[in-house]
Amino acid sequence: MKKIITDFLVIGSGVAGLRAAIELADHGKVIIVTKDVPTESSTEYAQGGVAVALSDEDEVGIHFEDTIKAGDGLCKRGAVKVLVEEGPRRISELIEWGAEFDREGPKLAFTMEAAHSRRRILHSKGDSTGKELERVLISKARSIKNIERLPFSTATDLVVEQDTCMGGHVISASDSVYIEAKSTVLATGGAGQIYSRTTNPAVATGDGMAMAYRAGAILEDMEFVQFHPTALFIPPAPHFLLSEAMRGEGALLRNKTGELFMKRYHPDAELAPRDVVSRAIMSEMTATGTDHVYLDLRHLGSEFIKNRFPRIYSTCLQYSVDITADMVPVSPAAHYIMGGVRTDRNGCTSIRGLYAAGEVACTGVHGANRLASNSLLEGLVYGYRAGQSAAARRLGRTAGKDLSSTGSSPDPAIPSNALAESDSIRQRLRDIMWKDAGIIRSKTSLNEVIEGLSRWDFILGMDFTSRRDLELKNMLTVALIIVKAASRRKESIGAHYRSDFPSQGKGPLKHSISKKTGAR
Ligand code: FAD
Ligand code: SIN
Repeated sequence: MKKIITDFLVIGSGVAGLRAAIELADHGKVIIVTKDVPTESSTEYAQGGVAVALSDEDEVGIHFEDTIKAGDGLCKRGAVKVLVEEGPRRISELIEWGAEFDREGPKLAFTMEAAHSRRRILHSKGDSTGKELERVLISKARSIKNIERLPFSTATDLVVEQDTCMGGHVISASDSVYIEAKSTVLATGGAGQIYSRTTNPAVATGDGMAMAYRAGAILEDMEFVQFHPTALFIPPAPHFLLSEAMRGEGALLRNKTGELFMKRYHPDAELAPRDVVSRAIMSEMTATGTDHVYLDLRHLGSEFIKNRFPRIYSTCLQYSVDITADMVPVSPAAHYIMGGVRTDRNGCTSIRGLYAAGEVACTGVHGANRLASNSLLEGLVYGYRAGQSAAARRLGRTAGKDLSSTGSSPDPAIPSNALAESDSIRQRLRDIMWKDAGIIRSKTSLNEVIEGLSRWDFILGMDFTSRRDLELKNMLTVALIIVKAASRRKESIGAHYRSDFPSQGKGPLKHSISKKTGAR
């Protein structure tokens, strides 16, 4: 197997990985590995915007309070303080690097989303905010000589020796490489693909969480999965997101009979917290015997809609839905995971030499439910911080011995396990997770998932050389972690709702921990 030695290894090229890499490049050679083309990430598809306390009517302290309230008591206050206080600096820097946010005259324009008490969401080209962030960060990274990017390269496992991360194994279409590094930053994003209804792109298969788990890292709060209330529902079309900013601008939710129903569930109606809106939609779907409700924008006017949401307008047209004239069929879909690899405020994980930032990490800023548009900001703030501390604490030595064959080190040149029925197992796993470990959970449903998934336990012990099979193993690992954590939490809080324990528990709120104990 080929071996490459570098100063820093960054896994993932979304907002968090790119921001970390830019910081690291001042201190040595950085290699960014990424599974697909560099832009393919959740970041690229982010629509609504990035929350930051920069408007005249806003204050960092109010952003702090809104974030804490959305997190339903489980946010780590110190981590939130860092997010809201350092956010404005990271955004100003992005603007200096060329980011163009929409403006009203000379001033930045801010929109509204659920659970924000102020208009504080910056957006770009209406609904292409994530694309603009990727454009600017990739162009900045390209301009730095110390950064090398390896697209179509999938990290398969971390290499940990004496509780210290020494780098990782990576496969491409034709090669298998061990990349040894003085610090490794995980920035692999989320795991939405483990649900059959998701807004996430195909790359979001929980690889970073699964790799960290196998390596012995602590994962935290994995039961908290956020379901976005409004994804396009025209099977077999993808569950394309219809941004919450649409409801922020006045779009309404109607059930099958055309009735506006949100007021019956929450005084803030369409702008109630995401978990409340998602459960209300599920309840309306059950009551009216259908698998979707409608998002109605027609009263906002055709010109406004086309200007404000051009990407959503043109994407829906591809599926023969004119959002200026038609009610849009929507359903909730898995969108974001609040839990992840536990880090401190500097991106340090429980393993020396391993850092994490962005959606793969759990800094505690989101608690039990993320405030809309806080995750792009988290990627910038904590990507920067992880980069800083990965540089400052880099290992002073390399391994000194050959670690290229430790852990799973599949070599694509050598035929190895190929999983029969891989695609069918993937689909069944996703369906089971959606049906029984989704928006509404119970002891019975979660036990059914554990039983359903356990028939594929053998996959966890196998090494694969194809990206698809590796992803399936990671999806299974993460699904089991989520379901077991959800079974242990016998209460409802934030995005975790148990029909058999519909209220918050009586004792003090606790974070949940997941850590590998046996062979798996
Ligand atoms: P990502 O941007 O997902 O990047 C992960 C990277 O890791 C990718 O490059 C991927 O290819 C790579 N990768 C994964 N596994 C491997 C592996 N094994 N080996 C190598 N590379 C790997 N948040 C907001 O704040 N505002 C919004 O408006 C917003 N809108 C959203 C809309 C959609 C449709 C979605 C899906 C999410 C949205 N979010 C939004 C959430 C936000 O986009 C993400 O949480 C955030 O972009 C995550 O950034 P990240 O850098 O952690 O991960
Ligand atoms: C959206 O545009 O609705 C997504 C915002 C987010 O998930 O933060």
